[in-house]
Amino acid sequence: MLALVAAIGLAVAVNQCSGKPILFLRWSFLRAVFGVRHMGATWQVGDGREQALAEYVCTNARRNDVGDVIRVIDDFCYHKSFLINVGDEKGQILDRAVTTANPHRLLELGTYCGYSALRIARTMPSDATLYSIEFSSANAVVARRIWDHAGIGDRIVGIVGTLGDDGATLSKLRDEFGFACSALDFVFLDHDKAEYLRDLQRIVDQGWLHQGSIVVADNVKRPGAPEYRAFMRSQEGLTWHTQEHQTHLEYQKIVKDVVFESTYIDRNESTTR
Ligand SMILES: C[S@@+](CC[C@H](N)C(=O)[O-])C[C@H]1O[C@@H](n2cnc3c(N)ncnc32)[C@H](O)[C@@H]1O
Repeated sequence: MLALVAAIGLAVAVNQCSGKPILFLRWSFLRAVFGVRHMGATWQVGDGREQALAEYVCTNARRNDVGDVIRVIDDFCYHKSFLINVGDEKGQILDRAVTTANPHRLLELGTYCGYSALRIARTMPSDATLYSIEFSSANAVVARRIWDHAGIGDRIVGIVGTLGDDGATLSKLRDEFGFACSALDFVFLDHDKAEYLRDLQRIVDQGWLHQGSIVVADNVKRPGAPEYRAFMRSQEGLTWHTQEHQTHLEYQKIVKDVVFESTYIDRNESTTR
């Protein structure tokens, strides 16, 4: 046992010293894996890295330059601490989907440190607004600090809550933020994988989607959203049309992932918007 621990320790040390360390042998990645129980309860790794990211961004990224803030976050994840952002590779799939949707009103489930919201806000039209829902108030504080530094704070409405909180957040979206029938053009699902399908159903039940609304779902393969994947496949050509993007889990090129980009087919709607 001792020999195994020593061998892992040595491998991590050699890996850290190499010019291009492998993600799975980086201490920051292993720390995140060991912190998975803490992550499940609080959605923070438990070593303060989310707050450290906000500090790093404010120190190293040019103020009011969203592209530079995204670059600095990716740099932090590759070279300092691994974070569960959508990342640069899958982020490009997200960017293209936002461009295709040409949205006015967008909803994100799972803000974390605000990385995907930065990418979405950078790509969406200048008159569009992103509503980003986050379960953890501590994560919402980190994201707000980063968005304000990037100069796009006024284009994103951060909301602490979940769509499963007995209607509180759904009512807030409807009554405070004017979510109405067919008003939602784009949704990004990147929160609790077990809630993807239920939360999508809640959005559909509100009548907020319209013919051509686009829903992007991260991590369909890993950690995996099997219920959601089965649903989208069963609905292909009926109520949804889905493109399955083969890609990799964030910040490495070994473990694969799949991102679903699904377009809503509203059988009751005869014309597009
Ligand atoms: C994978 S991270 C999101 C990463 C972020 N989209 C990005 O790419 O920068 C998942 C986030 O979802 C949040 N979360 C978990 N369950 C949630 C729920 N039911 N509703 C809203 N947010 C939730 C967690 O607190 C965590 O911050």
